[in-house]
Amino acid sequence: QTYDIAVLVGSLRKASFNRKVAHALMEMAPPSLKLDIVEIGDLPIYNQDPDDEGTPPAAWTAFRERVGRADGLMFITPEYNRSVPSVLKNAIDVGSRPYGKSAYAGGKPGAVISVSPGAIGGFGANHHLRQSLVFLDVLTMQQPEAYLGGVAKWFDDAGKLQDESARKFLQTIIDAYAAWVERIAGSRKQQA
Ligand code: FNR
Repeated sequence: QTYDIAVLVGSLRKASFNRKVAHALMEMAPPSLKLDIVEIGDLPIYNQDPDDEGTPPAAWTAFRERVGRADGLMFITPEYNRSVPSVLKNAIDVGSRPYGKSAYAGGKPGAVISVSPGAIGGFGANHHLRQSLVFLDVLTMQQPEAYLGGVAKWFDDAGKLQDESARKFLQTIIDAYAAWVERIAGSRKQQA
């Protein structure tokens, strides 16, 4: 059984630590998880009018379709001003509409990983994001929590993870998430 996991990265920066963490997790993921980064940087800023008028931008429609068919959702995000970066909040909002047709619906297994060079590990962003995901009925893994701080020293110049204790922790996170996906999505697939 392989699960299709849509990975949303909350930074557009070329040298993003969050994207490096996403790539490290892709390499470490057990065979049951297929992680796929779904790009969010080209989604027009959400405005309800095109939805109400039945003319949503093609990028919104493609994003909604991609998220909607995922078995699980992984959010890897920086903290901006103690909250969720606007690009990720926009992706949350775009995917949640039109009303009654949220791409996030259906009780998908989720994971929230916050990443920062700072010491607090993006705690504020992590929990603000969880607030939206509660409403959207994404079933986020609660333990282990993943507030990844001090990440500036984790990667070499080629973007490879070089910190061994970080590698161990990321392995713990991805293995726990694989078990969580099996528990939530696996039981659902058996019923289907
Ligand atoms: C930040 N940064 C930041 N860091 C943090 O730990 N808490 C915060 O509240 C903020 N606020 C913040 C606001 C804005 C507008 C920017 C641009 C940055 C710093 C941030 O963690 C740092 O730039 C990371 O490197 C961003 O993640 P990526 O781009 O490396 O993935």
